[in-house]
Amino acid sequence: MATRSTAVLAGLGGWLPPRVVDNAELTARLDTSDEWIRTRTGIRERRVVDAGMSTVDMSVEAGGRALRSAGLERVDAVVLATATPDQPCPASAPQVASRLGQRDAAAFDVNAVCSGFVYALATAAGLIAAGVARDVLVVGADAFTTLLDPGDRGTVPIFGDGAGAAVLREGRDGEAGAIGPFDLHSDGEHAELLVVPAGGSRQKEPEQPSDRYLRMEGQAVFRHATTRMAESSRAVLDGLGWTVGEVDRFVGHQANIRILNTVAKQLGLPADSLVVNIERTGNTSAASIPLALVDGVRDGSLRPGDRVLLAAFGAGFTWGATGLRWPDVPVEAVR
Ligand code: COA
Repeated sequence: MATRSTAVLAGLGGWLPPRVVDNAELTARLDTSDEWIRTRTGIRERRVVDAGMSTVDMSVEAGGRALRSAGLERVDAVVLATATPDQPCPASAPQVASRLGQRDAAAFDVNAVCSGFVYALATAAGLIAAGVARDVLVVGADAFTTLLDPGDRGTVPIFGDGAGAAVLREGRDGEAGAIGPFDLHSDGEHAELLVVPAGGSRQKEPEQPSDRYLRMEGQAVFRHATTRMAESSRAVLDGLGWTVGEVDRFVGHQANIRILNTVAKQLGLPADSLVVNIERTGNTSAASIPLALVDGVRDGSLRPGDRVLLAAFGAGFTWGATGLRWPDVPVEAVR
């Protein structure tokens, strides 16, 4: 599945909760070590929401920054990519829209877990291509730490909380920031490899206490993630007519530095083309790509005119990729 669109990236923003949890803090309460976490994942610290802080709260911070970056006060639609909405019902996007002063904008959630931001960008580009909206705020936000068993050393070191956001506006094909084509896929046969068993319609109450927490088969997820992100990236390169050698920057979902290095190797991309911020964020799920984009602009690794490839993989399984020539977008500091 591939689509052409004339949606153009016009703004970008990110936000992280203030509480920093470094590896040393985790080693005090889990059977793990700073050395293991750093070498196996690339993560040194992550941000964690305090009690009472939610996905909507983080989304409002990131979304406000993206609107200021785009110089816009009003958008026609707000698309929120999240797997950790404030409540199971209703969707969280209308609350984000209201709090950002976008009260009558269309607003809905997209749940493709860690691929959510790429899926939400495609959704927003579709709204623009269909003439439903001219300007769309796309937010990727997750409070994944709220799904973790505090005693599980297999997941606690990996995930962090945060929000990132982008504004897409109607534009012309070929101008800087024009995004697409998109390549999106899923395979629900592997749902059990990365799952929170309880809390949905199948198992309302946990049958055992651990059913309310995220369960992950790390090695299997690792293998699928590398293969699928590389496949999807190749499909987008074909669609764009770019060779691998023409890619300036690869911004992959920040799940594990070894996953990103393996994808780069499979594609034949040099390691220094990777935009990486996982060291300070951990895996922030739907927020990870926009947060990496913000950091890339801030540290000068993303420059106007760069050919940029984005690729993600997440629970479901879901995966996808897209690309754009980097536009000149002003970006405020995340923290
Ligand atoms: N600290 C110390 N040791 C740990 C540990 C931890 N936090 N977690 C696991 N270990 C141990 C294991 O028990 C195992 O010990 P053993 O060899 O004595 O049996 C050893 O480390 C290796 O475990 P393994 O699971 O093979 O590690 P790994 O290299 O696969 O790394 C992950 C584990 C989770 C970091 C890795 O599989 C991964 O990143 N997977 C993808 C996860 C992901 O991206 N999820 C989100 C997708 S969007």
